[in-house]
Amino acid sequence: MKIVKVKNNEELSEKATELFVHALSRLEKPVIGLATGSTPERMYEKLTEKCQAGDVSFKNAVTFNLDEYAGLTAGNPNSYRFYMDEKLFNHVDIQKENTHLPNGLADDLQKECKIFDDSITKEGNLDFLVLGIGLNGHIGFNEPGTSFDSRTHVVELTESTREVNSRFFDSLDKVPTEALTMGLGTIMEAKEIMLLVQGDKKAEILKKVLHGEITEEVPASILQRHPNTTIITDVTL
Ligand code: PGA
Repeated sequence: MKIVKVKNNEELSEKATELFVHALSRLEKPVIGLATGSTPERMYEKLTEKCQAGDVSFKNAVTFNLDEYAGLTAGNPNSYRFYMDEKLFNHVDIQKENTHLPNGLADDLQKECKIFDDSITKEGNLDFLVLGIGLNGHIGFNEPGTSFDSRTHVVELTESTREVNSRFFDSLDKVPTEALTMGLGTIMEAKEIMLLVQGDKKAEILKKVLHGEITEEVPASILQRHPNTTIITDVTL
């Protein structure tokens, strides 16, 4: 894993934008994996600025988001579809039909996971994947204990993840209990991964990911086995 150490969130977003733009520009039909959360927000703003200035285009891009809550409509401000539309898709030249998130409203969630995973395979897997990390080492909604071989699947969210995410909801009981997430096996098939880690509260988990045992108890530790991962971080290591 390559580590790019930066001073603050602004520099992190700048570097992340650079790598993202490089992936978008070098491929004829870039297949990009996207993350939500606070960490990539500024990167999406910068990508929007670059696209509006004509420096980069999403015209030929196909995107797959890592995850989505079960049971929230696209119009719900807490759904990840809403987040992506608001932060990126509505402001750039991407073709909406090429943007994919797992459908958390599908009647049969298991079947939806299979359809989503198969669509990624059909596109030839992700060329470039943006990841964030949770305090417990989750990537996507792959919580500790998730199999390294997992494909896109339905997860029951841990209390710690629900509590952390409840800051976006009116109250903890409004946070969904289930979500759909790309699996760790699916993630590991991405040709290039960019993991963004912002803020010293993530120092402890980042140290485990970098130097600890590769274990399903720390889902992101699997990235030690990935041949082309860059970690951009402002964490004091
Ligand atoms: P954050 O979320 O960017 O809001 O810290 C990361 C995650 O939980 O995957």
